Amino acid sequence: MTAVGIDAIEIWTGNLKLDLPGTFAPEKGEDPEKYTKGLGLNASSFPDSYEDIVTMGANAAHRLMDRKGLEPNDIGRIDVATESAFDNSKPVSTYVAGCLEQVYDGDFHHANKGERKFACIAGTQSLDDAYNWIRAGRNRGRGALVIATDTALYARGDAGEATQGAGAVAMYIAEDPDLVELSAEQGYGSADETDFLKPNQQFPSVDGKRSVQVYLARMREALEDYETAAGDVHPDDFAFAPFHTPFPGMVRKAALLAYRHVIRDTTIEDELADEIGRQPRPEGFDTDDDYRDALREYMDALKDTEQYREWYAETIDPTLSISREVGNWYTGSVHVARASVLKAALEEGRDLAGETLLVGSYGSGAQAEIHAETVRDGWEDEIEALNVDDQLADRYDMSWEDYEEVHDVHNHEMDVDVEEFTAPESEFVFDGWGRMGERKYRYVE
Ligand code: COA
Repeated sequence: MTAVGIDAIEIWTGNLKLDLPGTFAPEKGEDPEKYTKGLGLNASSFPDSYEDIVTMGANAAHRLMDRKGLEPNDIGRIDVATESAFDNSKPVSTYVAGCLEQVYDGDFHHANKGERKFACIAGTQSLDDAYNWIRAGRNRGRGALVIATDTALYARGDAGEATQGAGAVAMYIAEDPDLVELSAEQGYGSADETDFLKPNQQFPSVDGKRSVQVYLARMREALEDYETAAGDVHPDDFAFAPFHTPFPGMVRKAALLAYRHVIRDTTIEDELADEIGRQPRPEGFDTDDDYRDALREYMDALKDTEQYREWYAETIDPTLSISREVGNWYTGSVHVARASVLKAALEEGRDLAGETLLVGSYGSGAQAEIHAETVRDGWEDEIEALNVDDQLADRYDMSWEDYEEVHDVHNHEMDVDVEEFTAPESEFVFDGWGRMGERKYRYVE
């Protein structure tokens, strides 16, 4: 069976930066370490006044197409995953295609375009759609462009304001891919939950603490389901585990839970037994409360073991490096985690070809998905081509007053005009409104 997976990836960050410990925390009267140590964040990316989900998505896709030498007729699908859409009918992918058609000779008239919605998991669902389309033999030799793009902004004063972000990830899904092959096996954990939603409103209604619990519960369900398809997972089975990263502190919690799960009934659990005992099993307790107390105690002890710390430092921590500097990109965030870890491996000179990633996606509302990816021979060239470090370094560092203005500019309820902070160069920009309320775009050389 021919391999199907991600052939190439490109990242586009919003051009502005909010320093969380330096600028945000002092204004909120909070300890900077709540951000750096608690949430695990140094900064958030923000869109300048001429940027939005279309410009960021089209800019990432343009870089990807140029680098891979792709023309519009190489692309049979364009799927945009977003939870920041501004139109209930016309999909963002049509705007992106319109942008790209300004700079390429061909057009996308024979590409199937759509928009995927399920909170942050929609990017991974779009990968699934592309994979299934290719596996079904309907692609006629073409690949799919999947773009995850979001402006993850919260209402001013909401607890989520600490975890904002803005950026896009573009991926080309094709046969015989250069970056990673996707596994046919996958597992789901899905339930009707009310943790984060936007009922016809721009900024989310969030029960932040509950969303953390729901993330963990659904992720565990997805892991169990994955094991019924692929067999039991052991820590030695995968090199890295990129998870959806709304903020790195969330992944810290998920990783501990996942580690406890995958070491159960293994020699690792046996080796740790002398130090911290064996994992509590429900049948060993009279009440559910006693069982939960014992579990909490075990988890606290597990967190401090050398085995866990080493595993976390090697397998999880390198997935968080970009996220720490950009905040939450919603649909793009798990794809940023994959890019982070591959970049870290490249910088270490590690030979990853043939190794496995265990990828955990999550969307509020709520659903988690787990699948495996096998790193392909061409991965080093693909990751080498990323210029994400330069993009992050080039962002304009906003003062508190700048931040207040920028937040207002992107608030659909407000009509404010603000001078741009950065000068666009070789990128698509928002260019005002058309006669039917459509958004217009142009390419700036
Ligand atoms: N030094 C070190 N750590 C600190 C600290 C300090 N001075 N002050 C706080 N912290 C830690 C807290 O203990 C907490 O960590 P813990 O959960 O491991 O205990 C963390 O920093 C966050 O602090 P908290 O007081 O819980 O922050 P908050 O009330 O502002 O809410 C969220 C945090 C994540 C709930 C909030 O930002 C949110 O609603 N985000 C949007 C929803 C979201 O992203 N959900 C994730 C699932 S998709």
